[in-house]
Amino acid sequence: MAIRNIVKQGDGCLEKVCRPVTEFNARLHTLLDDMRETLAAADGAGLAAPQVGVLRRAAIIVDGEGGYLELINPEILEQQGSQEGAEGCLSVPGRYGMVERPQKITIQFQDRNGERRRLELEDFLARAACHETDHLEGKLYLRLVTRFLDPEEVEA
Ligand code: CO
Repeated sequence: MAIRNIVKQGDGCLEKVCRPVTEFNARLHTLLDDMRETLAAADGAGLAAPQVGVLRRAAIIVDGEGGYLELINPEILEQQGSQEGAEGCLSVPGRYGMVERPQKITIQFQDRNGERRRLELEDFLARAACHETDHLEGKLYLRLVTRFLDPEEVEA
């Protein structure tokens, strides 16, 4: 495994619509393993392939139980309710802002072996999955921020 460089806001990779993953091979597994290591090293909550310069529809999020949820070719089928909360992004270091997201989503995706799965995600996981899915469309969370947090608020 290897830690990959995380591209920052302003890099064209973050503005592209990513192509679907079509081959569930060793190359994909290496990418996902590297993304896990990169995310852990950065102490983040989620990471999308374009953030490491790979324009494919793959993302990972921490599952809150010490593991990772790998979302390949994710598609949000349904959303319910709304939640407002602070969000940040490893590609936009040092900034946090309030963003409204659905409270609950139904997401369909493939795992690293190409198996189709469907999950209902709530709260933090719904927020993280929406944030990462947006990355695959070339969209940063910044466009959704209703209010940026002051440094004092971030520390609290
Ligand atoms: Co992000």
